[in-house]
Amino acid sequence: MSDKTPEKKNEHGHGTTGHSWDGIEEWDNPMPRWWVMVFYACIIWAIGYSIAYPAWPGIKSATAGVLGFSTRANVQADIDAANAKLAPINAKLEAAELTAIAGDTELSSYATSAGGAVFKTWCAQCHGSGAAGAVGYPNLLDNDWLWGGDVEEIYLTIKHGIRNEVDEDTRYSEMPAFGDILENEEVEQVVNFVMSLSGEANDPALVEAGAVVFEDNCSSCHMEDGTGDRSQGAPNLTDAIWLFGGDYDTVKATVNYSRFGVMPSWQSRLSEAQIRAVSSYVHQLGGGE
Ligand code: HEC
Ligand code: HEC
Repeated sequence: MSDKTPEKKNEHGHGTTGHSWDGIEEWDNPMPRWWVMVFYACIIWAIGYSIAYPAWPGIKSATAGVLGFSTRANVQADIDAANAKLAPINAKLEAAELTAIAGDTELSSYATSAGGAVFKTWCAQCHGSGAAGAVGYPNLLDNDWLWGGDVEEIYLTIKHGIRNEVDEDTRYSEMPAFGDILENEEVEQVVNFVMSLSGEANDPALVEAGAVVFEDNCSSCHMEDGTGDRSQGAPNLTDAIWLFGGDYDTVKATVNYSRFGVMPSWQSRLSEAQIRAVSSYVHQLGGGE
């Protein structure tokens, strides 16, 4: 079936390929000339390209190309140019009193937009892109602060982190796990007392005894009236704003097992100007004092 039939020629003088399917044969026409030219041009261009630009992969890196082109170097040049442009305002931000930033229109609008960018990159994973927080990660929009809501306190929190043991100036405190200290009965009493402080559902029969347990065990950090102590990061328990949850089972778990919220310290990762910018950004979100 595949015997060539050289005697057969088309009007251009070409024979058949010799392939035949059910008697249908294929003319052995050459590729169009323009196509062949383009094909060779592509090969020549590819050789030129791979000499001029990074192309052939090696074990550790690719051939560099004689033109020395590098997208990485281009990006670095763009970053350097942007940094050089921002250097004067960053220097001004670093030199300013933290409390004076909000009153300086130029600095505060720069700090807010640069701080917003830092926030989206480094903070949003935990505090949410809108800074509204989540269980265990405080809402930064409201005026309920664990450690303090003026710009200087916010700055210290961000710079040194919270319970971050690598930073020796970190915010630190530890609520004991009362499951090991109190009887279950006492825990239930104090939990009902805590629930009563913010008007959450509670068993009134246990509240009075709970007040005594609270006074003896909790007031050193949460204060006698339960409004908390910022110097220890001890939350206000009277405002119905809960970091870990205000239902009975969650409060009981908090009291029994305690909590140990950790936030990274940022001074090793962000520049001074970035920390100041993001502090101003958080401060102006709505809850700043
Ligand atoms: C890995 C998660 C995580 C990341 C990332 C993170 N935080 Fe936090 N942040 C926390 C936790 C947890 C707390 C609460 C710690 C506690 O229980 O006291 C906190 C607390 C805070 C507070 C104190 C709030 C108060 O009420 O006093 C501020 C301000 C803050 N974060 C800002 C930031 C900023 C700005 C960034 C980004 C530069 C950031 N955080 C990144 C987890 C994180
Ligand atoms: C040594 C100080 C200290 C003592 C004593 C202490 N706490 Fe706390 N408490 C804290 C701190 C600090 C936090 C926040 C922990 C965190 O953010 O990880 C906290 C958190 C809480 C919370 C969570 C609040 C929320 O918003 O979710 C509750 C509830 C609570 N404490 C109840 C109590 C009760 C009840 C007692 C006494 C039986 C007590 N605490 C004793 C320091 C203390």
